Amino acid sequence: MAPQHTVLRAATTEDDSFVIEMARHACVIEDRPLPDFDDDEVLEMLPPDGVVPIIAADHSGTLVGAVWTYYGSPPLRCDAAGLPLPELCIAVAPGRRGVGIGGMLLDALFTDLATTHDTMCTNVHVRNPAKRLYERKGFRVVGQGNGPLGLALIKDLR
Ligand SMILES: CC(C)(COP(=O)(O)OP(=O)(O)OC[C@H]1O[C@@H](n2cnc3c(N)ncnc32)[C@H](O)[C@@H]1OP(=O)(O)O)[C@@H](O)C(=O)NCCC(=O)NCCS
Repeated sequence: MAPQHTVLRAATTEDDSFVIEMARHACVIEDRPLPDFDDDEVLEMLPPDGVVPIIAADHSGTLVGAVWTYYGSPPLRCDAAGLPLPELCIAVAPGRRGVGIGGMLLDALFTDLATTHDTMCTNVHVRNPAKRLYERKGFRVVGQGNGPLGLALIKDLR
């Protein structure tokens, strides 16, 4: 269960550095070193114009996680009309993981995104434990993702 006092809200420009920090975490698995804040992989994952991340904060206002979508280049997957599907970027601060915050952020993202999109996708490293969470939340593996150890997953939103 998510902690009772976790609050979700739309990001503001004051959250920009936290969003970059979360993008750095979303690039790596386990305890590998984080990429630089201006690493190409981090920059690609940042929310594009018009996308407002959802921020999770604890009872004291400390920021503990974030989720949003972006468009990778090349796209991970496209819809039947050939339009790129929005890709997931999510991270929870180390030390705050495994208590339900990620699941809470995903549920909020699905609700928001379902107003504009039928489907979304994500890439996950085969060894990333996040794969279990994604599958619990309705993503299914549809084939090869980014790189030899990447899996592409799709989630129907409506
Ligand atoms: C993936 C992540 C956002 C999930 O958030 P969370 O708050 O830990 O998730 P919840 O507590 O709601 O759900 C727990 C599930 O998260 C996953 N998880 C738990 N610890 C994790 C960790 N250190 N790294 C990745 N996933 C983890 C597992 O699937 C776990 O389910 P399980 O207990 O059945 O194995 C968070 O763990 C994280 O930031 N990981 C590092 C960044 C990352 O891998 N982002 C995704 C890139 S594809």
